[in-house]
Amino acid sequence: MWERTERGLREPEVNDVFERVAYLGVGDFYITNYHRRFPIEAFNPGAALVGEEGTEHDARVVLSSKRPGLRQILSLPPPPRALVMAAGEEYKRGPPTPSTMKMSWPSAYGRVRLIKDEKPLGLDYVPKRLPHREEQLAQLTSIFTSALKAGMARRVLITGKIGTGKTVTAKKFGQLIEEIARRMGLELHYVHVNCRLQNGSFFHILLEAMRRLRPDFPERGYATNELLTLLLRELDDRDAYMIITLDDAEALIDKSGSRPFFALSRAHEAKVGGPFRLSLICVLREPEKLKELDDATRSTLEEYAIHMPEYSKEQLFDILMDRVRLAFVEGAIREEVVAFIAELAASEGNARYAIELLWRAGRLAEQEGRYEVLPEHVRKAKVMVWPVERMVLKALSIHEKLFLLALSRLFKFTDEAKVTMGEAKEEYKVLCEEFSQEPRKHTQVWKYVQRLAELSLITAEPSGPGRRGRTTLIGLLVPAEELEEELMGLLSKELGIEVD
Ligand SMILES: Nc1ncnc2c1ncn2[C@@H]1O[C@H](COP(=O)(O)OP(=O)(O)O)[C@@H](O)[C@H]1O
Ligand SMILES: [Mg+2]
Repeated sequence: MWERTERGLREPEVNDVFERVAYLGVGDFYITNYHRRFPIEAFNPGAALVGEEGTEHDARVVLSSKRPGLRQILSLPPPPRALVMAAGEEYKRGPPTPSTMKMSWPSAYGRVRLIKDEKPLGLDYVPKRLPHREEQLAQLTSIFTSALKAGMARRVLITGKIGTGKTVTAKKFGQLIEEIARRMGLELHYVHVNCRLQNGSFFHILLEAMRRLRPDFPERGYATNELLTLLLRELDDRDAYMIITLDDAEALIDKSGSRPFFALSRAHEAKVGGPFRLSLICVLREPEKLKELDDATRSTLEEYAIHMPEYSKEQLFDILMDRVRLAFVEGAIREEVVAFIAELAASEGNARYAIELLWRAGRLAEQEGRYEVLPEHVRKAKVMVWPVERMVLKALSIHEKLFLLALSRLFKFTDEAKVTMGEAKEEYKVLCEEFSQEPRKHTQVWKYVQRLAELSLITAEPSGPGRRGRTTLIGLLVPAEELEEELMGLLSKELGIEVD
């Protein structure tokens, strides 16, 4: 780099007065509370250029060297036109003298941590407050508080698109209502069941509810109807109440139609006068789904209806900022970057997507050894995020996971949109061997395909007449690499195998 001076071009010259440890460039510095991101000049030890006198905002300067593990926060006199670095100590007012400017670098270059706690970024985390859902929460609480007082049961329908806070609001409500009941001196159990994770099985839903009262209740020996009767009897015996939330109830409707809902309401009719102990909250994305039920069942479910509208970008920003405070170290992400995430997620009004973007962007920035999450990390994260709950993957059986892993491997190396069932099974067999598992037979594998398709992880359809003959063509609906990474992690944990 040549510099123009009055006397023409001059070769840049470096005189090492001190022992040279490192040179810092402008790009090595980052100013967190000043409108310029970088100082105009960066002077290495031995030189100092101090900002204008008189102005009193205290600039905090974070040295963001490309060297991981290096982080210094300095207080500088404002505004820092140039940065005087004395890494390893705080710069105090006044130009430092060469003797105070000993550079010392941390010897161990540890990883930079931007995320101090991942939990608040997890999808099943229930935060202390739910901004912009106060109204829905209050509605739920008032419906059930009055019901409890009257010894009545209620049926509530919650609808809203994905990521509008249906699940988290219901869970939060569960915490609140249990507390309210306790203060009223009543025994109330809030049971939140995800129907999808229970495979839409009414029996397993009831079993989960029953086990809340009797944790060691056996899985075998009772039919579904008997289980329901026993559950109601148990509640009577204990003089207790229960609210069951059927989350993602689509799965239950798909699998069992009106029957479970009918059974649950009939259970009440058998009894005169009450108290009615079992209430129901039904969570659906689309109210239209109810049309698949018979009219009588439908009207009982719609007794009370609460809708969750999509979030605006301002609302998403509020939700994200709460998580940022809980999960990130201070200064790790600027508000404008959070606003950028909110903006990206706003087209869907989807808080789940927003939080997932935040989490991934944070992870990416950490992996790159950056001291801050930048918009570029958000953009990268956007490509990676897929709106599937990792919980869904976790709940798959080992062989379902292996089969899906086989697909992710195939799709990683093909530009084809579909693979054949034959190709998938071949790869699955190879993986079974790799993981020392006995491959399952065709009929069983076929069931995996159907299940994975139901979960919207894959598509499966018969091939038309064509070069491949008649077979089933399988498509993958989530990014292959991501999926592979996730599944490898889960499988190795589950099977106790070390993978690299
Ligand atoms: N109002 C809110 N305040 C804080 N977090 C929220 C809010 N709404 C949604 N979230 C978070 O966004 C994510 C998706 O919400 P969730 O309840 O799972 O949506 P849904 O069930 O409607 O798909 C969860 O991590 C949840 O904690
Ligand atoms: Mg949900």
